[in-house]
Amino acid sequence: MTHFLDINATDTADLRAMIDQARAMKEARNSRPRGAPDDDQPLAGRMVALIFEKPSTRTRVSFDVGVRQMGGQTMVLSGNDMQLGHGETIADTARVLSRYVDLIMIRTFEEATLLEMAEYASVPVINGLTNRSHPCQIMADILTYEEHRGPIAGRKVVWSGDGNNVCASFIHAAGRFGFDFTFTGPPTLDPEAGFLEEARAAGVKAEIERDPMRAVEGADLIVTDTWISMHDPQSARERRHNQLRPYQVNDRLMAAAKPDALFMHCLPAHREEEVTNAVMDGPASVVFDEAENRLHAQKAVMRYCLGV
Ligand code: CP
Ligand code: NVA
Repeated sequence: MTHFLDINATDTADLRAMIDQARAMKEARNSRPRGAPDDDQPLAGRMVALIFEKPSTRTRVSFDVGVRQMGGQTMVLSGNDMQLGHGETIADTARVLSRYVDLIMIRTFEEATLLEMAEYASVPVINGLTNRSHPCQIMADILTYEEHRGPIAGRKVVWSGDGNNVCASFIHAAGRFGFDFTFTGPPTLDPEAGFLEEARAAGVKAEIERDPMRAVEGADLIVTDTWISMHDPQSARERRHNQLRPYQVNDRLMAAAKPDALFMHCLPAHREEEVTNAVMDGPASVVFDEAENRLHAQKAVMRYCLGV
């Protein structure tokens, strides 16, 4: 069974093959007239369940469109509307869904839910975000970086802000794709130390630098995300904002990076909080390419999982 649960749980060669296939499929699709179907229909006859226990715009739409472009069909399920949200076990849900569908994508809270789904499903399971990671996002981000600037190997990526789930997947990717990673943010919001150690063991730099201006020296890419994730209590809002304000990505911070540094954000963005309008809408920003690339990257992820 080929699940896609995390970047650090996936072979380096497989990750590279997915990025390359995504890029080729994107070029093929975007060179055709709008509305022309893909020649290739590798998901013909396949049914994909997309389960959401949290809100989503990009993940929901990009998976749904991606499956349809490849000739498959989808069923979008809200966790609350399923018996899953009313006491049925994850294991039983996984066993039942596996009798109907060929692939399951789930966005959930606890990583344990994802892992249990994968353990008991007899079809592949894809991580559409948990409290702990967001691997599909970072596959799109790697594709985006490489389209704009060439190979990401050997580059320096700086994460400024909350060491959250999206940050974790970036650290996983550092070890796999061979780029250096620096986290800058307050100590209470550090990424998991084990993730940084794992990246270092893979031979890349994975560091923490509290001073954001020093952190971005020599940076090829600056990334941030919301200061309050979907799993964070709203009661933490004021404290987090106070702690994270020095880590806002603004023109001053971008100017301290390399002149051709890019800016990324998985979106949704909170403009004038973690990032200014000037950066979001400025020349370094590739945020909407990232959003588009969710579609192309996930098409490759689904093909990998299904072996088609
Ligand atoms: N970036 C991302 O996963 O967006 P959604 O929450 O809209 O799916
Ligand atoms: N860190 C954010 C990402 C949203 C796509 C969250 O988990 O809410």
